[in-house]
Amino acid sequence: MICAAILILTASCFSWTSTIYLPNKQETKKLKYLLEPPVYAEVTSPRGGNATLPCVLRFKPSHYKVKWTKLEPLRRGSKNIVMITNGSAHKPYGLLGPRASLRKAHAMDASLQLSNLELEDDGRYRCELINGIEDESVIITLRIEGMVFPYQSKNGRYKFTYKEAKEACAEQDGTLATFKQLYRAWTEGLDWCNAGWLIDGTVHYPILHPRAECGGELLPGIRSYGPRDRIREHFDAFCFTSRTTGFVFFVGQPLTFGEAMQACRGEGAELALVGQLYSAWRFLSYDRCDGGWLKDGSVRFPITTPRERCGGIPEAGVRTFGYPNKTLRLYGAYCYR
Ligand SMILES: *[C@@H]1O[C@H](CO)[C@@H](O)[C@H](O)[C@H]1NC(C)=O
Ligand SMILES: *[C@@H]1O[C@H](CO)[C@@H](O)[C@H](O)[C@H]1NC(C)=O
Ligand SMILES: *[C@@H]1O[C@H](CO)[C@@H](O)[C@H](O)[C@H]1NC(C)=O
Repeated sequence: MICAAILILTASCFSWTSTIYLPNKQETKKLKYLLEPPVYAEVTSPRGGNATLPCVLRFKPSHYKVKWTKLEPLRRGSKNIVMITNGSAHKPYGLLGPRASLRKAHAMDASLQLSNLELEDDGRYRCELINGIEDESVIITLRIEGMVFPYQSKNGRYKFTYKEAKEACAEQDGTLATFKQLYRAWTEGLDWCNAGWLIDGTVHYPILHPRAECGGELLPGIRSYGPRDRIREHFDAFCFTSRTTGFVFFVGQPLTFGEAMQACRGEGAELALVGQLYSAWRFLSYDRCDGGWLKDGSVRFPITTPRERCGGIPEAGVRTFGYPNKTLRLYGAYCYR
């Protein structure tokens, strides 16, 4: 059993966590060259959409560069610089470079445009003016519209190393969630009594209805195990997903797992991923009171209007029957196309 201190992350503890993400408080310095406060401190966009992160000069030094950097979450082993411009010429860098451009709406505009947004693009970006004397910067947060769902291995509770959790989320059309995404999900109703990895290697779980078996009768909050050993320790995962371009539909008659796969293929589709079912539930209000196979071998069904004969749980949610024996012919299929 893990004997970690359990923190209650209420509003004040949340700002404590935020200070981890804000090592140097840039906000306190009065800026000379960059417009501050920035036009928007947070920009929100769905996956697949385009976003403009505003950064506007109000005064131009004779020689300068503007450097855009992604601050967090960092992609390990890759450059996190996105773009450098000197006012006339610019150059994109790194993984984001091919999808990055400068808006250049006017001579003082250094705003960054990102196209075809991916889940991993979520996070904080820094626009930094470098003139060799007094460098200054503003920070813009890009938030990808989406949702968090908990994910457990087919081998049972607490079976993922950090890397396995990351892969499991990717296989279900998601990424490991950030702390901010989990925090937001908690404010939107996520209550989950199993601890899961987040992208920064910490382990948490969100509790709205405090109870003895879920960290005790403390205040509602995000229970924290802090950073854990990524290789030797095992937990579940909190995955983040967003809208998709396709849609999920149900095929009705009782099928084995193998037959369910065939049934979807017969419709020109595939068995849905867990993230796709959650996305349909959350963004398209998909509601269906029938268990159906998903591609990972689990059986689930999405409920937006809770009712007695559909599990009887008062909250909306995606219900799960776990990973039943694949030879059972009891469930339909959720397909994605
Ligand atoms: C995003 O920008 C690209 C060009 O950079 C454009 O082709 C595409 O239509 C835009 N998408 C949306 C959703 O506006
Ligand atoms: C910007 O960089 C380009 C290419 O390196 C260079 O040709 C140009 O003179 C520079 N412009 C300014 C204003 O420094
Ligand atoms: C699934 O059920 C079949 C038939 O009842 C049985 O032979 C098989 O061992 C079961 N498989 C697992 C993994 O439990």
